[in-house]
Amino acid sequence: MSGTIVAFKDVVRTYGTGDAMQRAVDHVSFTIEEGEFVVILGQSGAGKSTVLNMLGGMDKPTEGSIMVDGEEVSSMNDRQLSTYRGDKIGFIFQFYNLIPSLTAWENVALTRDIVRDAKDPDEMLALVGLSDHRNKFPTQMSGGEQQRVSIARALCKDPRILIGDEPTGALDSETGKLVLKLLIEMSHEKNKTVIVVTHNADIAKCADKVIRMKNGKVREILTNEKPLSVEEVEW
Ligand SMILES: Nc1ncnc2c1ncn2[C@@H]1O[C@H](COP(=O)(O)OP(=O)(O)OP(=O)(O)O)[C@@H](O)[C@H]1O
Ligand SMILES: [Mg+2]
Repeated sequence: MSGTIVAFKDVVRTYGTGDAMQRAVDHVSFTIEEGEFVVILGQSGAGKSTVLNMLGGMDKPTEGSIMVDGEEVSSMNDRQLSTYRGDKIGFIFQFYNLIPSLTAWENVALTRDIVRDAKDPDEMLALVGLSDHRNKFPTQMSGGEQQRVSIARALCKDPRILIGDEPTGALDSETGKLVLKLLIEMSHEKNKTVIVVTHNADIAKCADKVIRMKNGKVREILTNEKPLSVEEVEW
């Protein structure tokens, strides 16, 4: 690990106006170090996705500062945000978001249309253990395999940061653990900063840092000196 890569300072995101105004994110501050595996934990409606979407450059804060890798994301215009998303962030979604008419290899290779210097899709599929499945369509793969394809796709642009909103949410516990293990490997062995949103407190036991949210606020930030291995966790 080497230095702070993400810093939220007094970030607010409101929706609506007047009486209907709601603070989805209410003066949130935290820092994340490079190479950390971070879990943002909290119940439904806590503001987790809103935080992650702002970090991913898909939404903008109403107030406050978001610094990522030396850049002030909060003041970027749409074109700058597009470059930022392309260069810095790999996205993993709860329901994988693969294109059904494309093979595993083709889904990963699509990244090359968006990003210069994309990595070799076959290398990325090998990294997630799916070389044998390169010619399969999403419907021919299990949920866990599809999620691994989506991780290979996220890694293909060689991002500094991987973000996932409930990346194991649609998987059974055994498959979810495999995916979680892969994400932890990416942070600890490939020095990716991995940030995962979940309401599953057991996943948080494996994290280097846990940011616990409630009602739009950060309630607690915990640093695990000795995070559990995936094998040690039951859920
Ligand atoms: N685009 C939007 N317009 C209006 N309100 C929104 C919008 N996005 C989120 N909110 C509100 O902000 C609050 C936080 O939502 P958010 O999606 O961040 O919660 P979450 O912690 O991700 O919940 P979940 O675990 O259910 O996904 C919620 O009350 C939600 O209704
Ligand atoms: Mg959410």
